[in-house]
Amino acid sequence: MPSYNTDEFKNRFIVIEGIDGAGTTTQVRLLAESLIAGGFSCIVTAEPTMNHIGQLIRTILSGEDIVAPTTVAHLFAADRNEHLYGKNGIIENLKAGSIVVSDRYVLSSLAYQGTTCGPRLPWLLNSTFPAPGLTLLFEVDPEICITRIRSRLKKEIYETLEFQRKVQNMYERMADRLSHKGWRIERIDGSKDIESVHQQIESIVFSFLGVEC
Ligand code: TMP
Repeated sequence: MPSYNTDEFKNRFIVIEGIDGAGTTTQVRLLAESLIAGGFSCIVTAEPTMNHIGQLIRTILSGEDIVAPTTVAHLFAADRNEHLYGKNGIIENLKAGSIVVSDRYVLSSLAYQGTTCGPRLPWLLNSTFPAPGLTLLFEVDPEICITRIRSRLKKEIYETLEFQRKVQNMYERMADRLSHKGWRIERIDGSKDIESVHQQIESIVFSFLGVEC
């Protein structure tokens, strides 16, 4: 395990989480735009990543490759490890003084792989990864989310209403568990329009960073 103390810079590490169609990707982009406009150096990143492991995961999510759910849990953990500690990764950018905003992180594995293979293995595989300073968890009715993603051309294996409902429940359970471990997790009402959701996020993040928006 790397020996440096991540507490020193974790207060610049922000994660946005939620079920498919919750709007995390749009809101990560809008948040980064606000932070940059506010004079911060900010890097946007996402999981699964664009590297080799992330691309392999994408072939599994598309249904092109079929592997055991426990293998998927290991792949997400390996992708995350590289995302954190690899070249130009999260830690490197935090150390350079940037704010890093990630579209998904540990909580996604606890929620999605917790649903497909039970919570024990994802909990174990993710137990050594550092907590972000702030996690924003979107709460949106899965029916609204499924309607939002229905028009997407490429469908992924997790995009069914029944599965997303289970993931939403697992997100709640796992977020409670992480909060007890000291993670700072704020719930966001993601059912509102894009601008209102952005304003909620902006106000929470700027107050977390100790500045006025
Ligand atoms: P997205 O790029 O639209 O966010 O899709 C990523 C998909 O991967 C989404 O269905 C959530 C899923 N996922 C997991 O199952 N486990 C994980 O650890 C991560 C990061 C994502």
